Amino acid sequence: MSELSVNHLLGIKYLNEKDIQLIFETADHFKEVINRSIKKVPSLRDITIANIFFENSTRTKLSFELAEKRLSADVINFSAGQSSVKKGETLIDTVNNILSMKVDMVVMRHPNPGAGIFLSKHVKAAIVNAGDGAHEHPTQALLDSFSIREKLGDVAGKNVVIVGDILHSRVALSNIFALKLQGANVKVCGPKTLIPKYIESLGVGVETDLKKALNWCDVANMLRIQNERLDISYFPTTREYTQQFGVNKNLLDNLDKEIVIMHPGPINRGVEITSDVADSKQSIILNQVENGVAIRMAVIYLLASKIK
Ligand code: CP
Repeated sequence: MSELSVNHLLGIKYLNEKDIQLIFETADHFKEVINRSIKKVPSLRDITIANIFFENSTRTKLSFELAEKRLSADVINFSAGQSSVKKGETLIDTVNNILSMKVDMVVMRHPNPGAGIFLSKHVKAAIVNAGDGAHEHPTQALLDSFSIREKLGDVAGKNVVIVGDILHSRVALSNIFALKLQGANVKVCGPKTLIPKYIESLGVGVETDLKKALNWCDVANMLRIQNERLDISYFPTTREYTQQFGVNKNLLDNLDKEIVIMHPGPINRGVEITSDVADSKQSIILNQVENGVAIRMAVIYLLASKIK
């Protein structure tokens, strides 16, 4: 039987092409399951999962919890804001206390890059990275590629542009690794100040003219300006950012072809994307959210099958 090459999902960087194929084939099955009238399977009745979130989340937190419940796992949720972390308890002490309650898997979002990697070296549980600072957000990249595959039939050979704050984006980095692994052509587009200098070493092109980037691509993945991670001003004003790097209906209607619009959420409507684009038939933003549950079911199921 096929199995993942890894025991934890810490980043796309640690996966190979076969892992991604296996996750997608497993997610195809679970997508069919969650569209049945009975949306649940008994696969993980003997598994307990802790979702520990040290940073805010809507989509990822709910999607993991739903995925775990659809697989019949026992689920406990932990939010740092209401916990003894506020009294100074360390990450390892926090997680070891949770693991003493016989937890098999930890899904963690943390503001520090590498937090999941650190944890995987110090605790005996499968670790799933649900976003670690500006490092990686592997399940987001998997659900993004799965959604492109669903919409366009394949990821290989497709032109994908990632637009916005590339410098602070874990979604951008994980997407670049995932898309390149599957044979897509990738460009990034945004203010030069928000594009890391090393980006071309990842096999990614740079385009600072949004219209040219959109005319080149099959898919545009629009990113949010992450004000919470901006320590200094990287562009003059939000209005100027929107004028240069925001997608609106007029821009889309004047392209040479119809492209697919994606966004990981949360959206800043009217900044990186107007509402008429976000809600248009070219947008697959809510399909991405739906696919997130199937992808996370697949990841959890495949990792759990390695600890049984
Ligand atoms: N896409 C994403 O990670 O959204 P949340 O921050 O709401 O989980």
